[in-house]
Amino acid sequence: ATIHDQSLMRGHGGELHQTAEGDTPVLTTAQGAPVADDQNTLKYGERGPSLIEDFHFREKIFHFDHERIPERVVHARGYGAHGYFETYESLKKYTRADIFQRAGEKTPAFVRFSTVAGSKGSFDLARDVRGFAVKLYTQEGNWDIVGNNIPVFFIQDAIKFPDVIHSVKPEPDRAFPQAQSAHDNFWDFISLTPESMHMIMWVMSDRAIPRSFRFMEGFGVHTFRFLNDKDESTFVKFLWKPKQGLQSVVWNEAVKINGADPDFHRRDLWDAIQAGDFPEWELCVQLFDQDFADSFEFDVLDPTKLIPEELVEPVPVGRLVLDRMPDNFFADTEQVAFMTQNVPPGIDFSDDPLLQGRNFSYLDTQLKRLGSTNFTHLPINAPKCPFHHFQQDGHMAMRNPSGRANYQPNSWGEGPRESPQRGFRSFVDDVNGPKVRLRAESFADHYSQARQFFISQTVHEQKHIVMALTFELSKVETPVIRERMVSHLLNIDEGLAESVAEKLGMRKLPEPAEAAVSPRNDLPASDALSIIKN
Ligand code: HEM
Repeated sequence: ATIHDQSLMRGHGGELHQTAEGDTPVLTTAQGAPVADDQNTLKYGERGPSLIEDFHFREKIFHFDHERIPERVVHARGYGAHGYFETYESLKKYTRADIFQRAGEKTPAFVRFSTVAGSKGSFDLARDVRGFAVKLYTQEGNWDIVGNNIPVFFIQDAIKFPDVIHSVKPEPDRAFPQAQSAHDNFWDFISLTPESMHMIMWVMSDRAIPRSFRFMEGFGVHTFRFLNDKDESTFVKFLWKPKQGLQSVVWNEAVKINGADPDFHRRDLWDAIQAGDFPEWELCVQLFDQDFADSFEFDVLDPTKLIPEELVEPVPVGRLVLDRMPDNFFADTEQVAFMTQNVPPGIDFSDDPLLQGRNFSYLDTQLKRLGSTNFTHLPINAPKCPFHHFQQDGHMAMRNPSGRANYQPNSWGEGPRESPQRGFRSFVDDVNGPKVRLRAESFADHYSQARQFFISQTVHEQKHIVMALTFELSKVETPVIRERMVSHLLNIDEGLAESVAEKLGMRKLPEPAEAAVSPRNDLPASDALSIIKN
């Protein structure tokens, strides 16, 4: 920025006043009244007391006092950028989503990357999952893919979300540790939650300390549905593949970077985009049908499982380019409201119990955080396509229905009407069964994919997992929690369990944790593979 020589005036007490001359606009109150003196409060006599009638001072301090809004209950620390999504070719056969109808079409996008556990002021290189939330401003409404850089999650049912998050956040009595998973509460919960083992392998791997946001994959995690214009359904998983490749730092580097530059990931994205080196990701889809879902070894509704890319190849369907930083961090990055339930016609949910819970949670939390039901009136959250509805009033309403009618049907011929053809239609699913509070047996195998992930790693990557688990568990003060963790590791990989136990100085190995096995495990992986190939 250039340094401007402003007209300077010295005040009565020696203080400096920069005054508006030439093109410089005149400072005003929020009500628009020009301000003569922004250095001194209005006082009775030169040395006070101050007067309550000083509306400029009162407005200025009032506004400042209310600058902070609640930070996100999770993913508080994040950084965003604008860009666009370009569709490669029409996916009409699978989905009627407008964004996938025309090759070459560009759709505006906003992306927010984040850590999960740390507070808004925490450091960037924490060992943590990274949020990868994409808002696509399509011609038929905003579509949010609220994903992470890891393809699976800690829990299978949304009712456990407050528990997993409470366990990872600072402990309630001592209010530490801040942003690391290395503490008794977290490992206590994890060791009592076998379904988290697959996710834990990823979180202990190099994926959880990415070199920058630009070198991360993104995953929609859940199984969704594409619906075409005949309302035929194809299951779909969404994956973002970075054109820059995948890179991580090692733990030693992460610790040093956190000390030297806690804003390392922010600075990296800012610098790259300012320099015109625009990061790019390909959106890939894994498509499969009900027959595949029925024959797959694991339940496609279970968010702790992935569908191996060797089984269902991810097909690139478009690219995402980030080419502009927000002019104002708060306006865009802090106020953006991502919601899994934001889907346009042609995209639908599956019955994944984590996704179903998320679809409630995100709307609920925005009211708390942004403070008004009218958060869609903020430019970053408003659709960029025509929209018409009868919602009105509430705090900070910037748009209200015009004319006489604010309801329908009405006899005045005013306002919008439904469209059975163009409107959003849910997949007509055949749902049947008793109303129960149960976990499906098909969700019961918690170790097979954890093992597949561990053995898919190179030798030095496996070593990093051993070192991460050793570091983390060495911070756990309660021996029984460490033992429980090793008993889970024994079900994942014996060598892994033995190495960690030895490094922790355990004299003898515990018994392996009791392992329920999904009935679907009777189906060998090779059968599932041949089913797809046929
Ligand atoms: C925020 C991802 C599970 C509740 C976020 C954000 C991401 C994310 C990326 C940050 C959005 C942003 O940048 O503004 C995920 C993924 C999940 C998951 C991938 C599992 C696959 C859940 C569940 C719940 C939940 C199960 C609750 C039942 C929230 C809430 C926020 C949030 C309340 C804060 C939103 C805000 O204040 O804007 N999540 N989440 N998440 N998530 Fe999740």
